[in-house]
Amino acid sequence: MPKDYAEREALAGVQPAVNSGGMRMASEAGSAIEEQQDQRPVAVARASISGSPRRLVVVSNRVGPISRSKAAQGGLAVAIRAALEKAGGIWFGYSGSISERPSDTPRLELDGNITAATLDLTRRDYDEYYIGFANRVLWPLFHYRPSLIDFTRRDLAGYLRVNRRFARALAPMLEPGDLIWVHDYHLIPFGECLRELGCRQPIGFFLHTPFPAAELMRLLPNHHELVTALCAYDLVGFQTASDLAGFRDYLMRWGGGEDLGGGAIRAFSRIVHAGVFPVGIDVDTIAAQAEAAETSRQMRRLTDSIRDRVLLIGVDRIDYSKGLPARFAAYSHLLEQYPQARGRTVLMQIAPPSRSDVPEYREIRRTLEAAAGSINGRYAEFDWTPLRYLNKSFNHRILMGFYRAARIGLVTPYRDGMNLVAKEYLASQRSEDPGILVLSCFAGAAHELTEAVLVNPFDREGMAEAIWNGLEMPLEERKERWAAMMGTLRRNDTTAWRERYLEALAAAGAGR
Ligand code: F6P
Repeated sequence: MPKDYAEREALAGVQPAVNSGGMRMASEAGSAIEEQQDQRPVAVARASISGSPRRLVVVSNRVGPISRSKAAQGGLAVAIRAALEKAGGIWFGYSGSISERPSDTPRLELDGNITAATLDLTRRDYDEYYIGFANRVLWPLFHYRPSLIDFTRRDLAGYLRVNRRFARALAPMLEPGDLIWVHDYHLIPFGECLRELGCRQPIGFFLHTPFPAAELMRLLPNHHELVTALCAYDLVGFQTASDLAGFRDYLMRWGGGEDLGGGAIRAFSRIVHAGVFPVGIDVDTIAAQAEAAETSRQMRRLTDSIRDRVLLIGVDRIDYSKGLPARFAAYSHLLEQYPQARGRTVLMQIAPPSRSDVPEYREIRRTLEAAAGSINGRYAEFDWTPLRYLNKSFNHRILMGFYRAARIGLVTPYRDGMNLVAKEYLASQRSEDPGILVLSCFAGAAHELTEAVLVNPFDREGMAEAIWNGLEMPLEERKERWAAMMGTLRRNDTTAWRERYLEALAAAGAGR
């Protein structure tokens, strides 16, 4: 028996994952949904399309938008929507709204063969589940920042409570042939909750963030329960081999793990399959967007303002995992050590604010404001501003155009699950004059994009040198590196990601 059982007992104050009334409550929720369906002609159960063998049920904290006209134009939401559109199905999760007495019956919105089914959260649930446990415990832990963890049993209880409540709301909507695909760290216990409610369909989980090394995972007071919950899934998917290795290592050392071959592991008296499924992008769509943006007004304004200088671009949510202070320091070092770069380069850092209810995010924002001010104060000239720091987001198409205009794309997180900016930057380039991707070796994308200029974000001088070498890189070498990476992007695109994952899930869950 793993030693950690003792630590687990120490958390006895935490409620078990599902109380004994789980099934009863599920059927109450079920009748509520039937009533709702009677009132509205929204036929969730008929969302599946003919020709598709199994209906897909996607579960994630954020949902949608599902309507084609309003749908996101890039990143993960696009990939999920495309998967749902193909198979028909439900996208279930948090509505994004807080209400005092939220209904336990999901709000339904139908668009074609996709149904969005969402629930509101109370302020307390939001604070404990989303802000507290998901974003002040799991996020820093999974991004290798243990000193930022703020664990409380109250937040853990809130996290488990919301996962149980969500599972009870979804269970009555499920059909026997469904494939259930749960996404990300907010919802790790969700599959176990569904199992406890009697669901026998294949249930898979995909982690978009990194998974930490086993020793780091053990810092989490409830690590045993959390990893046991992961083993309730038929398939657990990771972005990279390092993430998978962290999970496997944990199971082998602390879960009595036994490798059964073919990706299957027996651990904690359960059998789970685990594999690597790197998230991709829709290469042709991104390339077309970037090309179309060339004639846009914004793109012209950008290139006019850059004139004959070289544009470097960074696009990241303001998050301490993104390594923005280190990137600014590296750029400052470049200007200091390579005076030829002064007046010749412009770094445009687009950094929309994110999770501003979390104190650490307010702190990093202040740090970046000071760092940006200090670089410009030190190096700017009356006719040149080295750093453009923008706390706002842009329309996805415009952004792809900005990528195309940039000679260097800087993607230098301290740690990142994948980072689709790296991939979109490459897909936006002109084949006859492609730019250079400067990529952190700790971004998941570095596992695939080995022809990028790889840097260690903890090495400011090394990053400055890499940027300088990038500025000097001959066209032939730029083309070679870019063509190799485009081959990888096409092989591992968004369709390959979802098809490989869903096939593996159907196979892993087949024996149930
Ligand atoms: O995996 C990280 C992730 O959940 C992404 O899917 C998403 O881009 C980002 O974090 C946004 O986080 P939030 O929903 O907290 O704004």
